[in-house]
Amino acid sequence: MKKVLFILTTSFFVMACSNGTTEAGKAADGSKEAVASTGNSLADNPDYQKGLALVATSDCLTCHKINEKNIGPAYKDVAAKYENTDANVKMLAEKVIKGGSGNWGAIPMTPHPQLKQEDVEAMVKYVLLLKK
Ligand code: HEC
Repeated sequence: MKKVLFILTTSFFVMACSNGTTEAGKAADGSKEAVASTGNSLADNPDYQKGLALVATSDCLTCHKINEKNIGPAYKDVAAKYENTDANVKMLAEKVIKGGSGNWGAIPMTPHPQLKQEDVEAMVKYVLLLKK
């Protein structure tokens, strides 16, 4: 009878221990997921997605690169210069439509009168989100 009791108690402890480790394992996985989903991902931002798609179908990238100066300033530098406010988005969108010059050097930006104000604002929002 004593022997049976001994076996029962040991197996109880073994079960308790193995349960403990699987619970700890689950908790560790859960915290990893939480870290991944709090990352401020541009890919989840609808303004970024819409603007990127519009910029890609227009001629912007023949003169602008994201990280380096080309014929026009790097988009990253434009983002660093202007705060992402409604007023700046409107002002910069007008420059893209009417053409701009004098802020970055001697070369002017060609006007884009064929583009809709609303679409250009989306493009500018994308540019301003590239701030590092
Ligand atoms: C022909 C070359 C060219 C094309 C095409 C072009 N840009 Fe530019 N862009 C420039 C130049 C040059 C400047 C700098 C103008 C200045 O010095 O004020 C500029 C400046 C800008 C600025 C900053 C304006 C300011 O006043 O600081 C934004 C925003 C911008 N471009 C967005 C765009 C977008 C969006 C497109 C596509 C619809 C586009 N550009 C297409 C050459 C170009």
